[in-house]
Amino acid sequence: MQSRDHFATRLGFVLAAAGSAVGLGNIWKFPYMTGQSGGGAFLLIYLGFVFTIGFSVMLAEFTIGRAGQRNPVGAFRALKDGPWSAVGGLGVLAGLVILSFYSVVGGWTIAYAVKAATGALAHSDPKSLGDTFGGFISEPWGVIGFHSLFMALTAGVIAGGVRGGIERASRILMPILAILVMILALRAVTLDGAEKGIAFFLTPDFSKVTWDTVNAALGQAFFSLSLGMGAMLTYASYLDKQVNLPRTAAQVTFLDTAFAIIAGFMILPAVFAFGFDPASGPGLTFITLPAVFAQMPLGQAFAFMFFALLAIAALTSAVSILEPVVAYLIDERRMPRRWAALLSGVMIWALGVPSALSLGPWKDMTVGGKGFLDAMDYLASNIMLPTGGVLIALFVGWSISARAQEEAQSDGSHPFPLIRVWIFICRFVAPAAVAWVLISGL
Ligand code: TRP
Repeated sequence: MQSRDHFATRLGFVLAAAGSAVGLGNIWKFPYMTGQSGGGAFLLIYLGFVFTIGFSVMLAEFTIGRAGQRNPVGAFRALKDGPWSAVGGLGVLAGLVILSFYSVVGGWTIAYAVKAATGALAHSDPKSLGDTFGGFISEPWGVIGFHSLFMALTAGVIAGGVRGGIERASRILMPILAILVMILALRAVTLDGAEKGIAFFLTPDFSKVTWDTVNAALGQAFFSLSLGMGAMLTYASYLDKQVNLPRTAAQVTFLDTAFAIIAGFMILPAVFAFGFDPASGPGLTFITLPAVFAQMPLGQAFAFMFFALLAIAALTSAVSILEPVVAYLIDERRMPRRWAALLSGVMIWALGVPSALSLGPWKDMTVGGKGFLDAMDYLASNIMLPTGGVLIALFVGWSISARAQEEAQSDGSHPFPLIRVWIFICRFVAPAAVAWVLISGL
């Protein structure tokens, strides 16, 4: 245990956790999910989940990770004998599934940074932007090539350990991305015809809410906050006692939500202003944003910077998905870090190939009525993560409740006034809400 790497500072940890949370989930997935799920009502339900269950499960993961000082499987086992370590195992599996498609979309962002730099995106006609995306996605070698590059970068960072480059890079790059997203949002909301998009985003129309909306909002809350598979747990295992966990969880939750909402203002008004279809799914960000860039001075430079920074934000998230898998192989299977990174990287890459092809050459192959990428996303976000999250909440709320309350408050040095509310949510609210959503789906 002495040799375990630790974050040097609290700020380092906040940035790593925020780097994990803020990624494609906020900027790519949140706007298109909102578009598919009818707008304002989705937003409201999403926020409801984030600040109750989301925050509580994040604090639960921080608590288990710091108390256990191990990978997800080992941390559960260190705190309690019995079958609980299977929750960690489920998390490791979820990591494989999530990263397989996450890396594909990460690859798209790199490809779009290249396209922006070469001027291939510099037009604002919706039809031809749709064709550009459609053309890119149906040409298998490009998509697989960029998926391979993204996966290699992720595994490479993990092979070198979490501390070095990525932590330092995100310290500088994340604030720049935040500023860029705000500038783009300002441009989008002042476009002609943007009001319809703003109204769509902010006016809840509950007549459109179905079980699918609620389920999508729950899955998105887990996905965006990086919860339910032990990513936050693993990061917190590299943490010392002094850190105030509830405060940190609140900051990360807030930051992640702010990014998502601003991304909504960046995409949805533009969707309506240019006459795109809000329900067009995973391509939405990639076809809408170039139209916005084309309406800006220095649009090409903005486009390049935006996609490059988004690729980096995606990388800091991808790293946090791979780290629990690799930590598991190191701690529990005694594998050297480099081998663990290589082995898991290759497996996840292979699992990602059908996703990479699923919007192009293999678009007629469906799993449960969805394309392969969508199906993987659904399996992970809407089933594995909520299930994992509930088990994490139950573990903290019932199985190690006293220990968890001490750990969450750093043995009394950071009293948390809402500690009883937190335990109540872990015990009753989170399990009941998630069970209700999952069961009413069947
Ligand atoms: N939260 C990240 C995003 O929004 C993705 C992510 C990173 C993630 N780590 C995770 C999702 C762990 C689920 C579980 O892009």
